[in-house]
Amino acid sequence: MNTMIVDMRAGIDEAAMAQAGEILQAGGLVAFPTETVYGLGANALDETASEKIYRAKGRPSDNPLIVHIAKLQDLYRIAAKVPKKAEALAEKFWPGPLTMIFQKKDCVPLKTTGGLYTVAVRMPDHPVALALIRAGGGYVAAPSANTSGRPSPTTAAHVAEDMTGKIEMIIDGGSVGIGVESTIVDMSGDVPMILRPGYINREMLEAVIGEVGIDPAITGADTTARPKAPGMKYRHYAPKADMLIVEGAEEKVISSINTMIEKELQEGRVPGIIATEETKDRYVGGIIKVIGSRADELSISRHLFAVLREFDEQRVSRIFSEAFDTPVMGQAIMNRLLKAAGHQVLEV
Ligand code: TXA
Ligand code: MG
Repeated sequence: MNTMIVDMRAGIDEAAMAQAGEILQAGGLVAFPTETVYGLGANALDETASEKIYRAKGRPSDNPLIVHIAKLQDLYRIAAKVPKKAEALAEKFWPGPLTMIFQKKDCVPLKTTGGLYTVAVRMPDHPVALALIRAGGGYVAAPSANTSGRPSPTTAAHVAEDMTGKIEMIIDGGSVGIGVESTIVDMSGDVPMILRPGYINREMLEAVIGEVGIDPAITGADTTARPKAPGMKYRHYAPKADMLIVEGAEEKVISSINTMIEKELQEGRVPGIIATEETKDRYVGGIIKVIGSRADELSISRHLFAVLREFDEQRVSRIFSEAFDTPVMGQAIMNRLLKAAGHQVLEV
């Protein structure tokens, strides 16, 4: 299959957008930018189209997709029960990086929901994504547009690496703003529960609707717990090299990483280091990558997946990373980083 790449970095190309809409309506696949990560879109109400997503990604078929909508009324066409609290969250955070889970209506195929009777719904905050959803008929199923197991794509080039030849079109909207996937909140039970941390954190949700729980499987407190979002159980975002997160006071982290760097270099290997603007000049060797600045936590989330992809290309022997327990997105960032590291953490 020939994969068309269309450039909408400077704005929406109406003719290309109409063509993208036709591809979706005909059951094809279009990758597109959102404010979180790039999505791989198909018509959510067409089970054959949904199946194509699983095939293109190599994704296990029990891992449900998020249905993206462009207007609030459309939520009521696919969700069987929309609690008041969900309406309050939608009012506050949509369009935005929040996905909510509801009991589904019959029009949503089980192929889209990975066999579940619930459906995840999100209204993304990106003009290209919203235009595409409208052009495609209103309901676009879209997981992150990476091959299953690879870091989520935050640029169109990342999507092209994984999806060229497998999908009809990639819409380039430039680099994303947030860089980690949306917060997922299950609204189908008594107490809303966070199944995946994202930019919208627990405090922000609780300020609107009161008590919100958090799936113990994602805080790392209980490593035997089975995550409620099926996708969270897979070892995602895994870079090819073994990765270690070093956590503690800055001076100790730097000196401990430096000791490990020296050992790698002595044995003829080249390690990779995930550093910040503030610490980059303090490391003694290896391939040092600046993920962002601690003074601007979005700079860290935005570059996280790109840095992991770059290390894959440079074939480093091991990756050493600082920890990023930043105020708003700390939980979301560390959740992805811990998965990338297979939960290997050194406390110093
Ligand atoms: O920011 C995002 O959410 C991006 C962009 C493209 O919108 N999408 C995304 O999709 O991250 P994906 O497929 O990579 O992650 C979806 C997660 C998976 O962990 C999946 O298991 C969970 O959502 N999920 C989807 N439907 C669910 C449901 N009905 N119940 C529980 N978990 C669900
Ligand atoms: Mg994903």
